[in-house]
Amino acid sequence: MYLNCMKHLVKEEQYQKTKAIVVKFGEPGGTGELLQKKLLERSEKTYNWVYDYWLEDMYLNQRLALPVNSNPAMVFPKQNFKDRKDSLRFAAHLITGVLEYKERIDTRVLPVDFARGQLAGTPLCMKQYYRLFNTYRLPGHKRDTLIIHKPGSTEQEHIIVACKNQFFVLDLVVNKKKLKEMDILTQLEKIVKMAENSEERQPPFGLLTSDGRTEWAQAREVLIKDSVNRESLAVIEKCLCVLCLDNPSGMEVGDTSRALLMLHGGGHEKMGANRWYDKPMQFIVGEDGVCGTVCEHSPFEGIVLVACTEYLMKFMTGSPSKMGRATSVSELPTPARLLWKTTPHIQDLLKASAERLQRLVRDLDMDVHKFEVYGKEFIKKQKMSPDAYIQVALQLAFYRCNGRLVSTYESASIRRFHEGRVDNIRSATSEALAFVKAMTDEKASLSVSHFSYLVPQILGYSHYTVHHAITGLGIDNHLLGLREIAQELKMERPEIFTDETYVASNQFILSTSQVPTTVEMFCCYGPVVPNGYGCCYNPQSDHLLFSVTSFHGSTETCSAVFIKALDEGLVEMRDLCRKSNKPQSSAALAASKAVVNNQGLC
Ligand code: COA
Repeated sequence: MYLNCMKHLVKEEQYQKTKAIVVKFGEPGGTGELLQKKLLERSEKTYNWVYDYWLEDMYLNQRLALPVNSNPAMVFPKQNFKDRKDSLRFAAHLITGVLEYKERIDTRVLPVDFARGQLAGTPLCMKQYYRLFNTYRLPGHKRDTLIIHKPGSTEQEHIIVACKNQFFVLDLVVNKKKLKEMDILTQLEKIVKMAENSEERQPPFGLLTSDGRTEWAQAREVLIKDSVNRESLAVIEKCLCVLCLDNPSGMEVGDTSRALLMLHGGGHEKMGANRWYDKPMQFIVGEDGVCGTVCEHSPFEGIVLVACTEYLMKFMTGSPSKMGRATSVSELPTPARLLWKTTPHIQDLLKASAERLQRLVRDLDMDVHKFEVYGKEFIKKQKMSPDAYIQVALQLAFYRCNGRLVSTYESASIRRFHEGRVDNIRSATSEALAFVKAMTDEKASLSVSHFSYLVPQILGYSHYTVHHAITGLGIDNHLLGLREIAQELKMERPEIFTDETYVASNQFILSTSQVPTTVEMFCCYGPVVPNGYGCCYNPQSDHLLFSVTSFHGSTETCSAVFIKALDEGLVEMRDLCRKSNKPQSSAALAASKAVVNNQGLC
């Protein structure tokens, strides 16, 4: 399957080399067989043989800065706050919702999720929910650590509030009484006032968390030499979540600018230092109505984040704010401002982090686009999987922009398995290549014959999704398992994993993910390689929402050009579906189904 996936993406000479390596690896009694045996042994001893390997490979070993490169964001609907107080009311209500949701997690009353879409009805592993609020990604020199606090721990009874780059501790339990919404609002008001006081202002330490992971780990080592810094870090590392009260950014408020503010805060001159990027749940409430979350990704997937934030959005609109004074805690202590000890060396570190964040901010090319010509209902009416169809459209857009196809990642949930996270659907198939070549052939005008290229691609893709990716038989996790077990056995890295094709197979120039929502909001994230695109899409009944990112620094990418090509392709694909009349398309479907079933297309 690996060879099938890569054959058309590398040069023929390289492919022949890879083929020989793969054949040798798979020979009876060869390295592959030994590693497979060891992997099977591991699967006997662990709940999930790939989880630890995957977590380290995907997140903890990665050294790039968290904003843009790793942390996804969820952008809430734009709010219309009358004034600062109104935004604080919203924030207090949001935190009340968070506490209610956390209570559901701690008391284990969250209903079990069941798969929707393809292979609907299977129960899904709920473990990711139990890591929403009690985790923290600690930077390390070579590898980060995901710290998991015991759920419901009394050490975790506070949140951190960031305001004007200052960090404050908001205790949620005072004198053994839980704070009510009115109390939370009172505390937030105090915090805003304290943040105004320029005499007590502390340096913007949150900037350090926006840096590369090794740089941050080194800086943290310097910081913790002082007990004041040690204590401040310890409080942050144990909090439930971070609430960032942002000043108006001064940017024109549109979907793209709101997404940018979530992903990187607009750099140190705007809100970029008013963040603590290591904390998995970080809520942003901007005075200008720009709200959302930016999340450290290692403990959970976007789908779990959607479930949590949709609950919060429904809580916000559905349950009235409870501001009755009568029930509030009478004596509320002033929230503590976190203090930091600086030295000239630490000042230099902060400056360096600020500059690197600024570079990232300048480099990000983002475009959020609503395709309104049709949505997933039209695609379903064509008897096609909307997800597969959109993936084909993405391939077409990429080909149109770059004249080639590249390794593509689409996250496929494997929560059907205990501790399951995701595997990869590789949508840059040879069938996709045939389709996009036909579609971009200038000599041939769009005709029904193009449809015969589209159908095998869609079916092959759906076949792979259902029979491999979401059912735990994808190739990416398996290859990762074989590679990592070789390392554990202290073997020299097998040639299959040093080969140029394997390296290319893991350079995801197109990194895509479907994150559908049922309330008005959308997810976005950055590209995973310097010359790549990040594309998060949200299929709705009558429209499709795309958040496309790339880097200005690459001459090979441009988000606006990609979006334009995507738009054109989606319209052409609709025209194609319309042109192919019913009898023809069902005949084509039947013929292609036979091909797929016989060949088990990758
Ligand atoms: N004809 C008509 N309808 C079809 C169809 C066909 N041939 N194929 C699928 N459909 C329908 C489905 O029944 C489903 O209907 P619903 O809207 O009533 O539920 C709908 O179209 C969507 O199905 P499809 O587009 O095939 O995709 P999916 O919802 O099954 O999603 C994945 C596919 C791979 C995205 C999904 O399995 C998955 O893994 N999602 C998680 C991704 C993730 O983790 N993202 C976050 C990463 S941080």
